[in-house]
Order: sequence, then C-alpha cells, then structure tokens
Amino acid sequence: MTESTAPARRKRVFSGMQPSGEAHLGNYLGALRRWVSMQEDYDCIWCIVDDHAITSGGDPRKLPHHVFDLAVSFLAVGLDPERSIIFVQSDVHEHTELAWLFNAVTPVGDLERMTQYKDKAQRFESIPAGILNYPILQAADILLYKAEAVPVGEDQRQHLELTRDIARRFNATYGETFPITEPLIDEKVGRILGLDGEAKMSKSLGNTVGILAEPDEIWARVRTAVTDPQRVRRTDPGRPEVCNVFSLHKHFTDAETLAEIDRKCRAAEIGCVECKRILADNIADNFAPFRDRAAYYKARPKEVRDVLEHGAQRARAIAADTIDEVRAKMGLRWRDAISD
Ligand code: TYM
Repeated sequence: MTESTAPARRKRVFSGMQPSGEAHLGNYLGALRRWVSMQEDYDCIWCIVDDHAITSGGDPRKLPHHVFDLAVSFLAVGLDPERSIIFVQSDVHEHTELAWLFNAVTPVGDLERMTQYKDKAQRFESIPAGILNYPILQAADILLYKAEAVPVGEDQRQHLELTRDIARRFNATYGETFPITEPLIDEKVGRILGLDGEAKMSKSLGNTVGILAEPDEIWARVRTAVTDPQRVRRTDPGRPEVCNVFSLHKHFTDAETLAEIDRKCRAAEIGCVECKRILADNIADNFAPFRDRAAYYKARPKEVRDVLEHGAQRARAIAADTIDEVRAKMGLRWRDAISD
C-alpha cells in the first residue's frame, strides 16, 4: 500500500474581536493567547469586527483609531501575517451580505433569548435592531470562511450555539453548505472578572487592564482592584478563594509561587497592597515584549496598513466563493436560470 504524500488539510479557525482600542487582559487570556499558539497547527483567520462595533454607538471619529490600536495589539502579542489572515471586517462587504441572507433562516425568538442581547437591551430606551441581529453577523463572519472551529472566551458560547443552529437550518433548507462549527473555549480561563471583582472584564465597564499599558499605568489600575471584602485590616486572615486579585495571579505566576501567595494571604503574612504589587509587577514583566513590539508598529502605521490590506485581499477571495455558492442556492442568481 502506498502512503499518501499529500499534506493533511489543516482545520480552519476564525475568530473576531471588537475594536475598542488596545486589547485588555480578558481579551488576552480568553482569546489572543490561544490564537497565537494556534497559528502552528491551523489555517487561521483573525478579524477586527468594526461592523459589530457600530451597534454600540460610540464616536465615529474614534473608530478608525480603535481599529488601528487593536491591529497593533494583534501584532504585538504575536499574531503573524505570514501565517494568519489578519483583516478588518468592513473591508470585506460579504460579511454584511451573508448576515442579511442568514436573516432568512434565523427565528427572532432565538435572537431574543441571547443573554448578551437581554443585557445590552436594558441600556436603550429604543433598542437598535443591530443589537438584536448582532449574532447573525457573528454567524456570518464564521461561516463565510466555513470555519470548523472558533477559539473564544466563555462569554461567546451562546452566540456560537446560534451559529451552529443557523448552519444546520441553512443546510436543511438549501442543501449541505456549512460546517457545524466547534467552539474552542478554555475552561480553565472561563470569564475573567474586571478589577471591580464583579462584572466581566470589559472596556465599556472601565474595569480593565490594557495589555500594552506601561508598568506605572498597570500599577495604577491594579491598585484599585477589589479584594476580599471581609479582609478589612492588614492583620485579618485573607480568603484567596473569594479574591479576584488572587484569581488573576493564577495566570501570571507558577504553581509554587501561587501556593506561597495563598499561604501568606491566609496567614496574613502579606497584605492586599503588597499582593497587588506582585500581581502588577508580574503582569508588567509578562507583557514587556508586547510593549516593545507595539512601539515598533505604532511608529510604522504603513506596515500595519499593509498587513490589513493584504489580509483583506486574502479574506475576500474566500468570502466571494462562499457568497456565490450561497446566492446560487438561495435562488439569487436569476440570470443563470433565464435563457435567451
Ligand atoms: P469581544 O470583542 O467582546 O471579545 C473578544 C474575545 O475576547 C474574549 N473576552 C474575554 N474572555 C474572558 N474574559 C473576559 N472578560 C473577556 N472579554 C473578552 C471574548 O470571549 C472573545 O473571544 N462578539 C464577539 C466578537 C465577534 C466574534 C465573531 C468572535 C464577532 N464576530 C466571530 C468569534 C467569531 C465579541 O464581542 O468579542
């Protein structure tokens, strides 16, 4: 028997991030860190989702700068344009086109059930349709590239379930077209809480630490972090299991040091301020290479532009084929059917 010499096709993965400036710790631990390591083994597509960002309002003059800053974060952490497609969503209009087509197979009830929709809707007196339809665009992002897997943080699980439902419904109605995409969620990371220790770390809540922040800035942010509320005096024994600062330590130090912090906190050998100082220093050390690379790219905007331009060209080539196929299946290529 002869062995096949053809290389095995690599699984395609897609993921996206909203541009609200530089990435934060939650983005890094929940998503970016994994994206970087996946570049070895997968066919990777990483997208800055500015069409999504407009659903939350915001100043249009700032959006292009947020896109640029996020692109710098992507490159700084080690996303590599030689190995991955890196691009901006609004450069590939097929995303919004496919989202419209998916409207035809998505029940409104499914959209109304989304937790993120219910949370966001509370902030509006008159809810923009884009907030409701947001997960359809997300499904379009993923399925436009027929991505087989999507690495995301825990908070995106429900949206990925909807993506799978949309793919199933489309396939059942119009014939086998899309894969049933697998969510890749790191259970060990889960949902990173913000410095308030209550809500998910999120730019809109102002409870973040930026991954490109200078050490002073990291300290200024981390020192505001909420710790165990029952530890009022320095001499009170701490409870690491309820302290968000402790849970952040887990991501920035080895098991031995972590056990030592745990012990010292319980024995009141270490105070909260000292504990936060260690955390801030470890974050600053871990992210030092990112700051250096970010400085390089910030000084070379043309290089960043070229990366995004080239990424968009490669993305468009794939997206155009999918849209052609979908249009044909949905009866939207009338010319082909009507003979002279
Ligand atoms: P976004 O921009 O809020 O977040 C980008 C990625 O970072 C992860 N993340 C977190 N993980 C753990 N703890 C946190 N506090 C935290 N905050 C953010 C998110 O899980 C995500 O992986 N709807 C998406 C963007 C999107 C998308 C897509 C993702 C649009 N199209 C297609 C995947 C595939 C969002 O708002 O992510």
